[in-house]
Amino acid sequence: MSDPQDAGVDFDIRPGEVTTELPETFDAGLYFIGRIRTPWTRREDCPKNARESDAVCTIDVEARFAPALAGVESCTHLLALYWMHRARRDLVLQMPRHYGKQRGTFALRSPVRPNPIAASVVKLVAIEGARLSVIGLDCLDGTPLLDIKPYFASTDAVSDAVVGWHVAQKG
Ligand SMILES: C[S@@+](CC[C@H](N)C(=O)[O-])C[C@H]1O[C@@H](n2cnc3c(N)ncnc32)[C@H](O)[C@@H]1O
Repeated sequence: MSDPQDAGVDFDIRPGEVTTELPETFDAGLYFIGRIRTPWTRREDCPKNARESDAVCTIDVEARFAPALAGVESCTHLLALYWMHRARRDLVLQMPRHYGKQRGTFALRSPVRPNPIAASVVKLVAIEGARLSVIGLDCLDGTPLLDIKPYFASTDAVSDAVVGWHVAQKG
């Protein structure tokens, strides 16, 4: 499942953005357990978040991990974790284009982060063998899959959660 683009970095630094020096070695390894197929081949064409598009996307789980899908067919929604393989990893302060204000990486859902892990709650439309059709993804075609978990509305949904800076910015 190696992909020469997996080490890719195609994010320019914008005025106001700040980098940090990354550690020389990694602390952990991980396995890509599959690939995500979407209609989007350019970052600028991707939805900005999981609710911005109703496109049905495909999650192809690698055959060796297919048995781990037992029971998934009973879920209406899943938490998909994926690896933003084209993202740079060294920004600590960012200037998101659509907000235009400097914010810390950990206050943002930007793909640019030390560990470029993305998370989306997706709606399961169909499952056929190790192939899942889902709605609610926002990533490039070919993005590596890290994990799938059941979404528990009872414990995962926090209806009164607030991102203060976002509320303030919207006015
Ligand atoms: C703002 S992130 C949100 C990701 C995820 N829903 C989350 O909240 O963690 C989505 C954006 O990441 C960018 N992106 C998508 N796939 C990527 C990839 N494989 N590598 C780097 N950037 C990617 C696109 O610009 C897309 O609009």
